[in-house]
Amino acid sequence: MMKKVHIITYGCQMNEHDTEQMVGVLHTVGYKLTETLEEADLILLNTCSIREKAEHKLYSQLGKLRPLKQQRPDLILGVCGCVAQQEKEQIFKRAPYVDLVMGTNAIPKLPMLLESLDYLPRALELSEIEWEDESRNIFRECRFKAFITIIRGCNNFCSYCVVPYTRGREKSRPSAEIVAEARHLVEDGVLEITLLGQNVSSYRDSSYGASSFPRLLQALNAIEGLERIRFITAHPKDLTDELITTMAELPKVCEHFHLPIQAGSNHVLHLMNRKYSREWYLDRVHRLRAAMPGIAITTDIIVGFPGEREQDFQQTLSILEEVRYDSIFAFNYSIRPNAKAGDFPGQIPDEVKNTRLQQVLDLQKQINLEKNSELVGKTYEVLPEMINRRFPETLTGRTRTNHVVTFKGDESLLGRLVPVKITEAHPFRLTGQLIA
Ligand code: SAH
Ligand code: SF4
Ligand code: F3S
Repeated sequence: MMKKVHIITYGCQMNEHDTEQMVGVLHTVGYKLTETLEEADLILLNTCSIREKAEHKLYSQLGKLRPLKQQRPDLILGVCGCVAQQEKEQIFKRAPYVDLVMGTNAIPKLPMLLESLDYLPRALELSEIEWEDESRNIFRECRFKAFITIIRGCNNFCSYCVVPYTRGREKSRPSAEIVAEARHLVEDGVLEITLLGQNVSSYRDSSYGASSFPRLLQALNAIEGLERIRFITAHPKDLTDELITTMAELPKVCEHFHLPIQAGSNHVLHLMNRKYSREWYLDRVHRLRAAMPGIAITTDIIVGFPGEREQDFQQTLSILEEVRYDSIFAFNYSIRPNAKAGDFPGQIPDEVKNTRLQQVLDLQKQINLEKNSELVGKTYEVLPEMINRRFPETLTGRTRTNHVVTFKGDESLLGRLVPVKITEAHPFRLTGQLIA
């Protein structure tokens, strides 16, 4: 009898990929995925700690699961991911019905931890030590797209951020291992890989082969059958001329750069410990566009960072106007455990944060629409990923520039690169027509 696992995933692609790995590892010990909570023998919450109330959200979600656990004491309830790494055994104190708490480095130990629950009341694994070889048993929802972790952790300590405390220090995977994994995926039908890391541009392999991020891109570009290479995220301070030139030269590396700026004023960037200036950032954008004229640039913005004056905020708005991003993610600053900015003077009231956030979102919505309108009438290569649930006989896919396009088409096109002419622009997606 197969057992069933239900996983709820919060957070970034790193967490999504961790979930794919957990499903893969669990499969080897007889578990399969279920969509329904009631059916599950094991429920895992893969948590994210990046923004406010993450802990509160976890405990309220656990509260909702409690009756299920009371009805079925044999159900295993586990918490993993970044909040687990941060809250540690405190989770057992606040929610004593939880069976398993495991941090961000414990995935390969999951079967062993589950087994230990046969003879122990609960299991806790929070090792800081990174696991060496990433599991090959990765479960993927989509047949032709895959993530590959290239670097884990972060050394940057931006003053607002919890990640260095939940994911530990930077550690690159050997490039030979990454290239082998990519080859294996391509043999399995994968056309597009996304290289994952909190800071992919600081990738370093001290062993041999591709020693830097540009070298790694070159090695991956040489894999026959692979069509698209993406990566997320790169820190602006490490965006070298060499990386720009290499991207422009390599046909498989997609014309999209997610380059989080966070704030437009040097005063705030300095307080955030971002280690670059507005001027440096704008110069990088300029160089990216000079080398790859059609490149899409996207970003992350934080508003209401402690000490952000009105004039600083105006500079965030002006950077949006100046760069004209293809899309952005914008957030209110929130205090996170361990992150230094929590103790900074000049914390901004919520009402001010909310007003600023709305201003950012309104301005960007207009820019999105204007920029998307410029694409109408042009034809792009699209990788159709799924049938659109809302409109039948419609597919959703992405251009190399990461724009989402919906167009009429059937299942037979899934996983084939097709030319699509853009017919209509919306703020957050495009409509197109398949070119026969
Ligand atoms: N390593 C990535 C960021 C990962 S976190 C990078 O440096 O680009 C994703 C985004 O969450 C960040 O870019 C930032 O905009 C936002 N974020 C992180 N900590 C935050 C906090 N304390 N409050 C609000 N937003 C935050
Ligand atoms: Fe957080 Fe900064 Fe590291 Fe990104 S680079 S994960 S924002 S500390
Ligand atoms: Fe969240 Fe952890 Fe990712 S805090 S954003 S899941 S690294």
